[in-house]
Amino acid sequence: MELFDLTGKTALVTGGTHGLGMAIAKGLAAAGARIVINDIIPEMLEKAVAEYAREGIDVAAYLFDVCDEKVVIEAIAKIETEVAPIDILVNNAGIIKRIPFLEMEAKDFTSVVDVDLNGPFIMSRYVAEKMVERGKGGKIINMCSMMSELGRNTVSGYAAAKGGLKMLTRNLATELAKHNIQVNGIGPGYYATDQTAPIRVGGHPFNEFIINRTPAGRWGQPEELQGAAIFLASKASDFVNGHVLYVDGGILATIGKPANED
Ligand SMILES: NC(=O)c1ccc[n+]([C@@H]2O[C@H](COP(=O)([O-])OP(=O)(O)OC[C@H]3O[C@@H](n4cnc5c(N)ncnc54)[C@H](O)[C@@H]3O)[C@@H](O)[C@H]2O)c1
Repeated sequence: MELFDLTGKTALVTGGTHGLGMAIAKGLAAAGARIVINDIIPEMLEKAVAEYAREGIDVAAYLFDVCDEKVVIEAIAKIETEVAPIDILVNNAGIIKRIPFLEMEAKDFTSVVDVDLNGPFIMSRYVAEKMVERGKGGKIINMCSMMSELGRNTVSGYAAAKGGLKMLTRNLATELAKHNIQVNGIGPGYYATDQTAPIRVGGHPFNEFIINRTPAGRWGQPEELQGAAIFLASKASDFVNGHVLYVDGGILATIGKPANED
């Protein structure tokens, strides 16, 4: 369908070597986009290129740190020369540190804010500049979180960064709208990824918490983010700007229920 067709578009998914970023990149590829990924770990890039290739997706992979302004400027120029101009940027690279607030040192807090908030700022700043120069519009998608809205024990740096990312999304939407660049976010709920495998077992307290806390009554599958990503990357969302689309099985719609309630 033309409204969701990404043929001829190039999408850069930061940290798109596995997990949610890879699922999103595969979705954008299925809609026709040329995919570029980056990461800071060479082996992950290598493994990812092979994994994409197994599914018939030819990705271009670049090793660079989204927090290093000088390196980002060089990398964007290189991607745009070697592959194609970037039409769609997905700021997916992120980290989390689980440390109780009263035990957290400023360096840990700052390191999370650096990757999860400063990184998307730097990437958006220099990708958008090129989009504006070309005058053909563009799409920026920021990976937010339920922690863009809610607090939780041990994740003060992450919640501060993801809350900040929601506001950065709104601000960039405001400033870039006149250039036909839409800036939106995706807020994933809890997903069945490799990292969550150890706690996704029956009887595990966190597994029980997620099942009870999520109206859908289950974990999300990474592929369930693809619809939101394709929508926000395509013509279908040309008048949608500054939103965070929560793909969370309904968690943010509800206060939750006691564990023993049906
Ligand atoms: N997994 C979830 O359930 C969940 C829920 C809500 C939000 N998110 C967000 O979605 C995004 C992807 O989540 P995920 O679980 O797949 O993450 P992940 O940690 O599995 O993958 C993120 C990737 O980013 C890379 N990365 C880290 N720092 C980088 C840097 N400075 N420069 C370039 N790459 C860097 C990592 O090497 C990693 O490969 C993150 O922004 C995360 O905060 C995830």
